[in-house]
Amino acid sequence: MTDRERMEKGKALLDLLEERHSLSREEWHFLLENRDGELAGEVCSRAAALRDRIYGKKVFVRGLIEFTNYCRCDCRYCGIRRSNKNASRYRLTPEQIMSCCEAGYDLGFRTFVLQGGEDPYFTDQRMVELIRAIKGEFPDCALTLSIGERPRESYAAFRQAGADRYLLRHETANEEHYRLLHPEEQTLKNRMECLKNLKELGYQTGAGCMVGSPGQTADCLIDDLEYLTRLQPEMVGMGPFIPHHDTPFRDYPSGSVELTLYLLGLVRLLLPSVLLPATTALGTAAEGGRELGVKAGANVVMPNLSPENVREKYLLYDNKIHTGREAAECLEDLKKSMAAIGYEVVVDRGDFIPC
Ligand code: 5AD
Repeated sequence: MTDRERMEKGKALLDLLEERHSLSREEWHFLLENRDGELAGEVCSRAAALRDRIYGKKVFVRGLIEFTNYCRCDCRYCGIRRSNKNASRYRLTPEQIMSCCEAGYDLGFRTFVLQGGEDPYFTDQRMVELIRAIKGEFPDCALTLSIGERPRESYAAFRQAGADRYLLRHETANEEHYRLLHPEEQTLKNRMECLKNLKELGYQTGAGCMVGSPGQTADCLIDDLEYLTRLQPEMVGMGPFIPHHDTPFRDYPSGSVELTLYLLGLVRLLLPSVLLPATTALGTAAEGGRELGVKAGANVVMPNLSPENVREKYLLYDNKIHTGREAAECLEDLKKSMAAIGYEVVVDRGDFIPC
C-alpha cells in the first residue's frame, strides 16, 4: 500500500467510525498501526469538531478532592498501593472535606469529585454521612465518587444518599494484561461487575485505562475500545502510564503522549458525547499536555481542591503536577491557558448530553 492509499483507507475507517460508532478488530488494528502524523492530525481535528458540535468550545472543570491515600489494593503500577511502605498516609476529616467543597464552591465549582484509595476506614456508613452532608450543603452541585470496588448494595446506598456519578477505570479489558497489572485477589470480572452495577444504579459512570502500561499491546487497546463500545460509559478517563519509583514497575518507560492523544480522539469519535478529561497524567507527561488533550477531543479538566499539605502525598506516579498553588490560582491559570487555545472554562455541572 502506498502512503496515499493508507491515508485514504484510514479516512474511510474514520468515516465509518463516525457513522456507526463501532469498528471491527481488524479496522481498529489498521487505525492503531497506521498512526502517522497525517492520520493523527485527521483524528484530532475530527474529534475536536465533533466535541465542539455537541458541547461547544467549553471545558468543564471538576473539583478533585483526594481525601485518603490509604489503600487495601496492591495494583503494581500505583504509588499508593498497600505494599508501598514509603508512602506517607493521610486521611482528611469530614470537616476538612467540607471546607474543600466550600472553597471550591466559592470559586464557582459545581462538581466535586471525592477520590481516594480503597480505605476501609471509610465504611458505607461514613461515606453515606459524607455524601449527605455535601449534597445537603451544596444541593446544586453534582457529586462524583471515585473510591474503587464495593458491593452493589454500597453503590446503591451512596446513590440513595445523593451521589450522581462514579469513576472506576477498568484499567485494562484484557484478562491476561489485568493479571500482569494486579495481584491475584483483584479480578477483571469483579471490576466489570462493579461497572455494570454502577450503570444499572443510574450513575453517570466513568471507565478508562492507562496508555502504555507495562505489557499493553495493540490487542489490549482494542479490547479496551471494544469494552467501551459495549459499556457505553458517560465518562472515560485515559492518561499515559507514568512509573512510580516505589512500585514493581519503576523501571518501565512512560506511555506515549502521542498515542494517548490519538486514543482520546478515537474515543471521542466512538462515544460522541462522552465526558473526556484531559488527565493530570497527560499534563505531567508533557508540557501543555492538558491543552493538547483538549485539542484532541477532551472536554473536562479536574483541578485539585485538596489541601496543599496533602497534595504531594497523593502520589500515584512520579512528578505528578501539584503546583503548590492555591485552587484559585490554578483555576485562573487554567482559564488563561484554555482561552489561549480558544476554549472557555466553565464551572457548571456539565452533565452528560445524551444523543
Ligand atoms: N501512571 C498513570 N496513571 C496511574 N494511575 C494509577 N497509577 C498510575 C500510574 N503509575 C491511574 C489509574 C487509576 C487512576 C486513579 O490513576 O488508572 O484508576
